[in-house]
Order: sequence, then C-alpha cells, then structure tokens
Amino acid sequence: MRIITVTASRNYPVFVGSGLLDNADQLITEHIKCTNAVIISDSHVWPLYGPALRDKLQEKGLHVYHFVFPAGESSKTIATYTEILNFLAENHITRSDCLIALGGGVVGDITGFAAATFLRGIPYVQIPTTLLAMVDSSVGGKTAVDLPAGKNLVGAFYQPHLVICDICALNTLPISIFRDGCAEVIKYGILYDAGLFEHLSQNGLAFCREEVIARCIELKRDVVASDEFDTGLRQKLNLGHTFGHGIENLSNYTVSHGQAVAIGMAIISTAACQYGYCDNKTKTAVNHILQQFALPATTDFTAPQLYRAALSDKKRSGEKVNLIIPTTIGNCEILPVATNEIESFIQAGLSYGSDYSSN
Ligand SMILES: NC(=O)c1ccc[n+]([C@@H]2O[C@H](COP(=O)([O-])OP(=O)(O)OC[C@H]3O[C@@H](n4cnc5c(N)ncnc54)[C@H](O)[C@@H]3O)[C@@H](O)[C@H]2O)c1
Ligand SMILES: [Zn+2]
Repeated sequence: MRIITVTASRNYPVFVGSGLLDNADQLITEHIKCTNAVIISDSHVWPLYGPALRDKLQEKGLHVYHFVFPAGESSKTIATYTEILNFLAENHITRSDCLIALGGGVVGDITGFAAATFLRGIPYVQIPTTLLAMVDSSVGGKTAVDLPAGKNLVGAFYQPHLVICDICALNTLPISIFRDGCAEVIKYGILYDAGLFEHLSQNGLAFCREEVIARCIELKRDVVASDEFDTGLRQKLNLGHTFGHGIENLSNYTVSHGQAVAIGMAIISTAACQYGYCDNKTKTAVNHILQQFALPATTDFTAPQLYRAALSDKKRSGEKVNLIIPTTIGNCEILPVATNEIESFIQAGLSYGSDYSSN
C-alpha cells in the first residue's frame, strides 16, 4: 500500500493498494470523526461494492445511509444533486457526518459538490472505482454537475478528507472504460514523466497498476499543490482536451472521453512536430503508445469542424487560446495561439493519419 499526502486548502491522504475496500471502514473512522455516513453511488457500482462497505461501517458503530442513482453522465445534473441534498436534509445529516463517494468520476464529482454545499460544507471521502477517477477526478477537489449548456458548468473547489483507491475494484471495470482511463495515464507520462511513459510503452495494458496509479496521483498532487484553483500550471492537465472535448461534442458523445483525449493528444503532438516545437521521435512515440493501448489517434472530423467545436463562440477572433504542447516526452509547454491560427494548427495535426497507416 502507498500513502500520498495532498497539500492544498485541506491536507489529506490518498491510499493506493489492493484490497483497501476491505479496510475502508477502518481508514474512514481513523480519519474522520463522524456519527452518520452517507454512501453515494451509482446503479452499477453499488451492487458490487456498496453492501459490504455499508455492513463494515455499521459494525464500526456508524449509522449508514445510501443514495444510489442511475449510472452514467446523464445523471450528473442539478436534478440528481437536488435529490441528494433533499435526502441529506430528510435524514438530518449534519456537519458531524460524512459523505462517501463510491464510484467513478460522475459519482465523485456530484458527491463532492453536494458535500461542498450542503450546510456550507461537510466532510467527504472519495472511493474511486474507475481508473480515470483514481488518477484524475478523485484528487484535487474539483467538484461539479453539468448543465444543458455544457459539462461541469456548476461546481466548487472542495477537497475531500480522504481518498481510498482499491485497485481490485478495477477488476470489474469493462475493458473499454479501463482503456479510457489509460488515455489519462498516458497523458501524465507525456506531460511530466518519461520513465512512466517508458514503463507504459514496455508493458501496455499489463502495466503495474499500483505503481502507475500512485505515480499519477503524485504528479497530480504536485500540480494541485502549486495551482489548486486552476489559474496557471494546472492547465497543463488539459493536454489533448481542447480538441478532445470538440471531438466528444461533434460525435454526440459516441466517441468516449478517453478516446477523444487520445485523438486530441495525437493531433497536438503531430501539429507540434510540424511547427518545430518537438521532434519526430516525440510525435511518433505518442502515436505508437496510443496504438499499443488500442486508443484511436485519428478522426474523420475535419479541421474546420474541430476548430468550430473546440472554440466555442465565446472566443472572439484575435483572442489567444492556450494549447498544451509536448516538447519532449515528459515535458510540455503552455502555448498561447491566436484563434485565427488554430484551424491551420489542427490541419497540421490531422496530417499524421495518412503517413501512419501507410507505415
Ligand atoms: N473532478 C475532476 O477533476 C475530474 C477530472 C476528470 C474527469 N471528471 C469527470 O469524471 C466523469 C467521468 O468519470 P468516469 O470515467 O469514471 O465515468 P463514470 O463515473 O460514469 O464511470 C464509468 C462507468 O463505469 C461504471 N463503473 C465504475 N466503477 C466500476 C467498477 N469498479 N466496476 C464496474 N463498473 C464500474 C460506472 O457505473 C459507469 O457506468 C466525467 O463526468 C468528468 O467530467 C472530473
Ligand atoms: Zn480527461
């Protein structure tokens, strides 16, 4: 087991290891003094892990409630959030109690936002059960729900009191969702850690889970410690996301987040190479690792489509957009690019597909 301490507006430990759910009751009661606990989960995760966790917490003398909503991004709404708040109020939950987010990023984000706002803030625990939630959403305190106008438009920065990553939970995760999380893991390698990238290149999907997840969390911890409120260096975590979000949108969310981020990373590194910000080796390494993880590196959407989708009409021409570009594996820079230059940048980024498939 590894313990990583996050230092932010609240300091908290992140536990990473195998079988930690079996001891979650102990970890929770050691770190939070609470009378009641409310487990919030979704319809896929609750039946797998919820009842055992509830029983263990009850054995520790806690009164345990649970709130379960239908799995999926479509539940990350103000309506579900309101239902959670009403559930907490009806059960007389106070600031001496705690919420436990048991699930992927959807559960974590909505539970975190409910915890941030109910009674102006009550303690909460993240127990992430997807790879993405372990390496990304459960650490760093970004909480949110979606609006019809867009994802994550309402939220708060609110750090958890404790994060428990049981890598055994990944055993029940469908492979496609695991792969989506791999795109974020690869992202950390490209951004910050050539050694991590190398380990992933050598082992593919058989990478050492505990070591890699803990390393990604350490990297995220460092970013959060230096820029908790996302006004500077935390932007680097958006590598592949500017165009990735556009692809998700254009595909009506039939392209998953991880796949879209993978394509976004391929576009940006190919364009970076064409513009001379990185060498051919870096571009090729990014494209190869995506192929190795069976993640896509190309798209049929055109540069004008991607340009329009990536730059919402909020951006006026002449403004600059910060793109995160790799310079070598393990190093990236924030590059401000004028909006009127972005379309040709994307066009350059799309050029890899043809020479890639002919190799
Ligand atoms: N707060 C942040 O910093 C941050 C960062 C990145 C992403 N996010 C958010 O995270 C969300 C995506 O998270 P996600 O990819 O985990 O999606 P998710 O929570 O929807 O989980 C994906 C699917 O896997 C199922 N699942 C989860 N754990 C499982 C397990 N162990 N076994 C079997 N099935 C399991 C879920 O029920 C769901 O159907 C998005 O809403 C995104 O905006 C937040
Ligand atoms: Zn992401």
